[in-house]
This record gives sequence, C-alpha cells and structure tokens, in this order.
Amino acid sequence: MTTTIDQKFATETIHLLLIEDEEDDAIIAHSLLSNIRGVDFKIDWVSSYEEAHASIVQSHHHVCLLDYCLGARTGLELLHNALQYGCKTPIIMMTGTTDRHIDFQAIQLGAADYLIKGQIDAPLLERVIRHARERKKAQVEREALHAKLLETSRQLGMADIAINILHNVGNVLTSINVSAGLICQSLRQSHVQEISLVATMLQTHHDQLGEFFTNDPKGKLIPQYLEELGKDLSSRVQQTVTEAESLVSKVNHVIQIINAQQNIAKPGGMQEPVRLADLVEQALMISRRELEEHHIEIVQEYTDLPQVVVDKHQVLQILVNLICNAKQAMMAQEREHHRLTLRIESCPEQEGFLQIQVTDSGVGIPSEHLTRIFAQGFTTKTKGNGIGLHSSAIAAKNCGGSLHAESDGNGSGATFTLKLPNTVAQQPGSMCVDSQHQSTDFSTPQQ
Ligand SMILES: Nc1ncnc2c1ncn2[C@@H]1O[C@H](COP(=O)(O)OP(=O)(O)OP(=O)(O)O)[C@@H](O)[C@H]1O
Ligand SMILES: [Mg+2]
Repeated sequence: MTTTIDQKFATETIHLLLIEDEEDDAIIAHSLLSNIRGVDFKIDWVSSYEEAHASIVQSHHHVCLLDYCLGARTGLELLHNALQYGCKTPIIMMTGTTDRHIDFQAIQLGAADYLIKGQIDAPLLERVIRHARERKKAQVEREALHAKLLETSRQLGMADIAINILHNVGNVLTSINVSAGLICQSLRQSHVQEISLVATMLQTHHDQLGEFFTNDPKGKLIPQYLEELGKDLSSRVQQTVTEAESLVSKVNHVIQIINAQQNIAKPGGMQEPVRLADLVEQALMISRRELEEHHIEIVQEYTDLPQVVVDKHQVLQILVNLICNAKQAMMAQEREHHRLTLRIESCPEQEGFLQIQVTDSGVGIPSEHLTRIFAQGFTTKTKGNGIGLHSSAIAAKNCGGSLHAESDGNGSGATFTLKLPNTVAQQPGSMCVDSQHQSTDFSTPQQ
C-alpha cells in the first residue's frame, strides 16, 4: 500500500520512504513528520518486506525511515540487502525495540541513525533526517572525489610511462644516430666504385694484358692499387660490421625499454643470468664516442664475479642514465683532465649484495641537492627533465636493490652506487622468468 501526504506552506520538499508494517505506527510517523516546520514531506508508505525492497533499491527517495519488525523478516535484513544493492538513500532505523545490540548492529551495517519509537518528537526527527542527509551527501561527494582521484592517478600513471619511455629511448637514440651516421659515412667514403673502373681498363687491354701491366704507366700501378683497395675495403667492412652490430644491440635495447614499460604493472620482469661487467660495457658503449671526443679517461675496475640473475634491461637502463649524467657533469666542469671510473665489486657493508659504482670528476652535487636529486622533475640542467634518476631509483628498487649518491659538493665530482642482490645463477646460460629476489634491504634512495 502506498500513500502520499502533501504538507502545505512548506519551503523544501523531501521525498521520504516509510517502511512500517503497523498502520498505527505509520499514522504516528505521518503525524510527527507533519509537525516539522519548513519541510514538505512526500511520503511513500510501504508495509511489506517485498514492496520495501523493490522501492528502496531504486534510491529514488531522499531519506528512508525503516521499522525493525517486517513480518517474518527484519529491518536489519532489508538494510543489509539494500546497501548490498548499492542503495544511495540514507536509511534511519525507527523501531519499538530498545535492544542496544540491534542498535549497534544497525549502525555497523550502515544505518544513518537509530531512533526508538515513543522517544521521538518532531524537532528530534527533523534534526536526525537533516543530519542523515548531510552525511550521505558528504559521503557521495567523497566517493565521487575518490573516483576522480583514481582516474586522475591512472592518467598520470600513463603519462609517467610515456615520459619514461621517451626519456630512456631518447638516451639511446642519440647513440643510434651516431652509429647510423658512421655506417653511412664509411660506405660513402669506400672506393668500391673504383673496382669497376679498373675492370673496364683491364677489359680494354684484355688482348695484351702482359704488355699493359709491364709497360703502361697506369697498368704498372694496378697491382699495388688493388692491394691497397683490398686492405681499405676489408677494414671498412670490419668497421661497418662492428658498428652495425652495436646498432642492432641499441635498437634491441630500445625495444626492451618499451616492453619493460608495458610490463610496468607486474613487479619483476625477465630475470636472466648476466655478467655485470658485460652490462657496464654495453651501457658504456652508448656514451663511449662522446666520452672519447671529450678526452675523458675511462677507468674500468671490474672484480671478476660470477654471473648474477637480474632484470638485465632495468639494470642497463640505470647504468645508461648514470653514465649519461656523469658525462654531462664532466662536460659542464672545465678541467684539464676528466676521469670516469666504473667499479664492480661485492658490497663491503651489505652481505649478499654486489655494487656498481659510477664515479665522475664533474660539477659535483651540493649537499642541499643530494636529498632532492631522486625526486621526479628535479633538474639543474636547462634541457633536463629530472626523470633519469627518479626512474633509475624505481628500477633499482624493482630489482631488489637501491641507488645512492655521494658528493663533496661543487666541483668535486660525484659517485653513484647501485646495489643489487647477489642472486647467483644456478647454471650458466639457464633462464628463469619472473623469479623473485630475496633481499634484506629494499631501501629507497633519500628523497
Ligand atoms: N653525476 C652527476 N653529477 C652532478 N650532478 C648530477 C649527477 N647526476 C645527477 N645530477 C643532478 O641530479 C639532477 C637530476 O638528474 P636526472 O638524471 O634525474 O635528471 P636530468 O639529468 O637533469 O634530466 P634527464 O631527465 O634528461 O635525465 C641533475 O639535473 C643534476 O643536478
Ligand atoms: Mg639525467
């Protein structure tokens, strides 16, 4: 049964669902509501559990007054089901039972309030309805804000991934460009076309080749010319093959950077046994030409260590960033002689860990920056983005290790230490996917 009562001379209209199986109690509730000033209550009264359920789950009402006794079933059951169905209407329990346990349960289940029949007057009811509606409104706003925050952080996460890919691919692209340029230059400068000139010359003199080689001034030069041409071509082929191989490995690294970012949601990527010295060499290769052009001495202090199982591309990405930063720091510092030292050793202060240190003789890091350089966006360079160290610190953590910086300040160079768990490869050449590192210290860098 549904009844609608309109109150006259009201300023606000509240659509109320009254769930009450006793007609007398429903009349008392109507009467209380009609005594509330300034509000026009449109009341839908339902008396059975089934009708109540069908009505409440639609969340059409501003507020609901719910009795505890509903025939064979209870108001608590309805409250529970309504909230399970996502009911947005604030539900106030209004019952004849004074059992504190039911009161407690109702509030725990999500009732907006608990009123006892016979102890309510119009002002109290008005206040309870108003507060219940305000709290519900605040809750709905909070949920909407939370959903918006989730969406924003998802979008920011996607932007982060894109920025990371661009930054790390950018580091390698310059080097790819140099390799490709060198291959083109070497092929352009090769004297390969001259072979056909010699062939034409030999064709012209094919019936008197002996005479041509012995007495003709041009013919006499041909054997020595061919010998030199052969040497030049074979050294160019050798150089081109080396450069092309390095190009293939850099392109492969770019592909891995993109793949690694696609797997960003999954902790731990492809773990494989590697020699850390090989990784350092590979990372060095990306900046080597520029380092040589600036006459920077490269010192390699590699302790001979067995292979370790790591996510090769994450470690490579960190090393490329550290070496790039070191190179830039040295290029920015006027000095007669610069030195880049790359050191691989067992970690002296942390058992079960290995460390790779990158030390440069560059501009150094003032102490007030040491705590900030790993924060996303922190840069002191005009063309910097402040992404390299941030993404490297995350990658180090993903590998079960850590990244730290030390410097005595302006002009005294810097040392970056990458610590990695010494997960020794079981069988050289074997491969295990998604294995988890165990380590005692998962420390993050200072932020
Ligand atoms: N080897 C170093 N020597 C001195 N300062 C360094 C060194 N490495 C990093 N820094 C400082 O840390 C800052 C952050 O480095 P990070 O690699 O995160 O960003 P960036 O190099 O400025 O820009 P990008 O995002 O392009 O790498 C640098 O701007 C610089 O001030
Ligand atoms: Mg950088």
